[in-house]
Amino acid sequence: RKKVTISTLRAMYRKREPITMITAHDFPSAHVADHAGIDVVLVGDSLAMVALGMEDTSEVLVEEMLLHCRSVSRATKSAFTVGDLPMGSYELNPEQALATAIRFVKEGRVQSIKLEGGKEMAPSIKKITTAGIPVLGHVGLTPQRQNALGGFRVQGKTKEGALRVLEDALAVQEAGCYAVVVEAVPEDVAALITEKLSIPTIGIGAGAGCSGQVLVQMDMLGNFPPGRFLPKFVKQYANVWNEAIRGIEAYRDEVKSGQYPASEHTYSAPKEEVEAFRA
Ligand code: KIV
Ligand code: NA
Repeated sequence: RKKVTISTLRAMYRKREPITMITAHDFPSAHVADHAGIDVVLVGDSLAMVALGMEDTSEVLVEEMLLHCRSVSRATKSAFTVGDLPMGSYELNPEQALATAIRFVKEGRVQSIKLEGGKEMAPSIKKITTAGIPVLGHVGLTPQRQNALGGFRVQGKTKEGALRVLEDALAVQEAGCYAVVVEAVPEDVAALITEKLSIPTIGIGAGAGCSGQVLVQMDMLGNFPPGRFLPKFVKQYANVWNEAIRGIEAYRDEVKSGQYPASEHTYSAPKEEVEAFRA
């Protein structure tokens, strides 16, 4: 499959072909997403939780994101690859935002960056896109601001709230974003926003009216122990945790019982060599 580019994504949008996006946080998770024919791979800052075991995304550093971006980028032969700017690395001013975006391209080897925010981020988006780095926007629920939003809440449930999300989406489009992630917004609101925009919307918890969808890979693959809280929008397409437990438990049991390794897993040397060695 040919490398997905900004033009490929534009063509999909024109044809109303849904854009598929999934997160990846290292070489294997990117490798499998790329092989499965995903259009866009996002190195989301959600890797703070799913790959590094942190409480929330505010803890992850630029250097840590860059290491993960680099490993993902080695695996994405066809998928368009996007790196997520972590909290604290872009909010100060457009210069800081551009400097961080450049590091993501030069050191992280991604084709695009994503940053959270609406109107207030427009000057930074303009600065980065003008420098030739494609920017993916992110409006609605912006997890990096969870403390200010009062937690993970659906955005745009009131007329005023919906207007705010629309204005933010229009502002990031105007500033030069090629697409925008719309997170945790009622389906009808996200569908109307999608109609009003001339760039693709990539929904997560935003219903079927968006131009594409994104999910966190570890969530949709069920790669976590049972009982963990999952947002309503997550559909679990596999149970990687159970499969991994099954395999590792079988290995443990076979080592304990002496079934593993069997003769087909072992090397042998000529008898006389072994005899000489013994003597
Ligand atoms: O960090 C992340 O994984 C994201 C997506 C869920 C949009 O920002
Ligand atoms: Na993110």
